[in-house]
Amino acid sequence: MTGKSEHKINHLLQMLADGNFHSGEVLARQLGVSRAAVWKLIQTLQQWQLEVYSVRGKGYKIPGGLSLLNQASIQQALSHKLQGSSNLFQEIEVVSSIDSTANYLVQQWRKNPGKGRVCIAEHQTAGRGRKGRPWISPFGANLYFSIGLELPLGLSALGGLSLVIGMALTQSINQLVTSEEQVKIKWPNDLLYQNRKMAGILVEASGESNDSSFLNIGVGINWNMQQTQGHLIDQPWANLTEVIPDSITRNQLLGMLLADLEKDLKQYLHQGFTNFAANWPKLSAYYLQPVVVHTLKGEVSGKEVGIESNGALQVAVDNSVQVFYSGEVSLRALSSKK
Ligand code: BTN
Repeated sequence: MTGKSEHKINHLLQMLADGNFHSGEVLARQLGVSRAAVWKLIQTLQQWQLEVYSVRGKGYKIPGGLSLLNQASIQQALSHKLQGSSNLFQEIEVVSSIDSTANYLVQQWRKNPGKGRVCIAEHQTAGRGRKGRPWISPFGANLYFSIGLELPLGLSALGGLSLVIGMALTQSINQLVTSEEQVKIKWPNDLLYQNRKMAGILVEASGESNDSSFLNIGVGINWNMQQTQGHLIDQPWANLTEVIPDSITRNQLLGMLLADLEKDLKQYLHQGFTNFAANWPKLSAYYLQPVVVHTLKGEVSGKEVGIESNGALQVAVDNSVQVFYSGEVSLRALSSKK
């Protein structure tokens, strides 16, 4: 999308965000384009899986309205929680639609390395999940963001780091949860609510030396996705709005999550993984429960008993403990408790 059409579509979204009908004529006048051009922009929004009603004689309307992402509000919530400005995330960018925030940060990093960046999108055309799966990314329904950072860590330290990120997000969200049950982690870093997936994390790293790595941390959190938008997802899923108060906006939540991630990343850099590992039993969805680990070599049944300091999962099988590494296995509870 060119800068000009992006500007027009953002302007159109701001006008439709109130949830009221707006006639094609008025929208065209405000945008300085023809009514046919307005219709084309509306079609683009519908292709982004945003529900827009079009009623003859009345115009266009987004049912329920929209609370759009806003860079200044996110920045404000982040500085408020950190009680000062962030020194890990120097640039925060909000975009309407992009192929993938993860791809974008790699490109930005190549052009201008070194800076800590965050890219947040309302919609992704080619969102990527783990193991080459797509990440369904309808407009305005969820949170999709990537963080690009250079950290003084060798690639061997990254297994633990990936768990630190999942635990930081889980604890940050649980501070807001008003439902009886809390959000939990399924190893290595899916967030679950009542055994339904609420968020996924994709950590990609490249390192040229043993003491520094470029990290691309991608996070997708379901916010208020409708069944019609998420029907292609091949596993049960949950929305964050099921467990936190309606008064919290996506902007406030993003500010909080980034602040908590910053605190925990710094703590990990200074103190290592030991303190984090101690939190695993209370955060893990399947701690001390029967699990099946699916590996490339086959399935292993046992009981989840903990994690190692490099992030590997410990599973008790018969009389010994077997250790599994990130990326090689997936995990399912044998018995799901409701
Ligand atoms: C998973 O499969 O569980 C990981 C999902 C990660 C999705 C996020 S959304 C923001 C970022 N951009 C992407 O293309 N993927 C990640």
